[in-house]
Amino acid sequence: MNALADMPQLDLCADFPAIPDGWAYLDTAATSQKPQVVIDAIARGYDRDYATVHRGVYKRSADMTLAYEAARRRVAGFMGAASPDEIVFVRGATEAINLVAYSWAATQLRAGDRILLSALEHHSNIVPWQLVAQRIGVAIDVIPLTDDHRIDLDAMAAMITPAHKLVALAHVSNVVGSVLDGPRAAAIAHSVGAKLLLDGCQAVPRMRVDVQALDCDFYVMSAHKLYGPTGIGVLWARGELLDVMPPWQGGGAMIDRVSFARTSYAPPPGRFEAGTPHIVGALGLHAAIDYVESVGLDAIHAHETALVALTRAALSQINSVTLFGPEDSAGIVSFAIEGVHPHDIGTILDEEGVAIRAGHHCAQPLMELLGVDATARASFGIYNTPADVDRLVKGIQRVTRIFG
Ligand SMILES: Cc1ncc(COP(=O)(O)O)c(C=O)c1O
Repeated sequence: MNALADMPQLDLCADFPAIPDGWAYLDTAATSQKPQVVIDAIARGYDRDYATVHRGVYKRSADMTLAYEAARRRVAGFMGAASPDEIVFVRGATEAINLVAYSWAATQLRAGDRILLSALEHHSNIVPWQLVAQRIGVAIDVIPLTDDHRIDLDAMAAMITPAHKLVALAHVSNVVGSVLDGPRAAAIAHSVGAKLLLDGCQAVPRMRVDVQALDCDFYVMSAHKLYGPTGIGVLWARGELLDVMPPWQGGGAMIDRVSFARTSYAPPPGRFEAGTPHIVGALGLHAAIDYVESVGLDAIHAHETALVALTRAALSQINSVTLFGPEDSAGIVSFAIEGVHPHDIGTILDEEGVAIRAGHHCAQPLMELLGVDATARASFGIYNTPADVDRLVKGIQRVTRIFG
């Protein structure tokens, strides 16, 4: 652990009331803990400022509408959107991908077209495409991985054809932490006229994301992985794409005018936000973005990268441990211990005050490719320190002693 002295030190644990002293929370890829400023923003939203948005004529509601739309502008600035109108609030990344599948893909793709995914996608970035593909007779192709479990962009370049109309890839893998070269993926997709959707669930909390620099066409994320609340997420899409997308859910707020003869719809993003939205969730997301930006995405990225390096260096000393993913994975380390089921690893680590995830991580095709049913996964966040890595490594040493 000599690398400790060199590593950037963020020590933000005190900002997170749900992390008691001595507990190593290493399941941030599943969901992040919340800083007090986010909890306070949510509490204020309910206990002081609460009212509906977009409809009330009274001041409280008008103020809440301003706060809700300020959150949209904050997200737009955070992601590099050209306009807040390109930001659609949804329940989370899963809903964002389903929205693109049912509104864009289901109307723009034709029988015989193809969709390109990768072998490491989360089920949320597989199943919505399968559902739509079955409906309209579209085929799905799968980009293989490199030996160190990155999406193989050389293979992508070799296999893409003009029949591919959409490529949907994880910006950062939730299992092995590999980081996609987004601009290169976009250049390959665009070379045949395909659109690129990036699943940014694991990237947004870990690195600076600018959708213009990435040159993608759709970008999705969930607030709860970015130190914000559950129940709210974001679809960003280029304005000209949103303009041609029909509504996918009907209800209040998404309309222009309703009659039994003919209903017309609101322009984006309202067209895609049927019903009363997660008002206070938007305030929480706004506070979460303020918080991560006050720390700095570059500092967060450097910190988590150093924790990963420390973890990989220590675990590679243990003979029975297999590490998955590339050396420079972003904040996420998946591993196996010979002869020990990941659930047993997770249970023993829990006794040691270390919370990891054990399972297929909603990526069963990737498990198949790795030749395992499940992995153990340690995923870092803004609040983790080298002491957490130390605790993890000691816990794993205990697992290996117990299982001989
Ligand atoms: C890469 C990736 N994509 C999609 C999702 C789905 O996110 P949510 O469940 O918040 O919709 C997750 C969550 O684990 C994820 O890690």
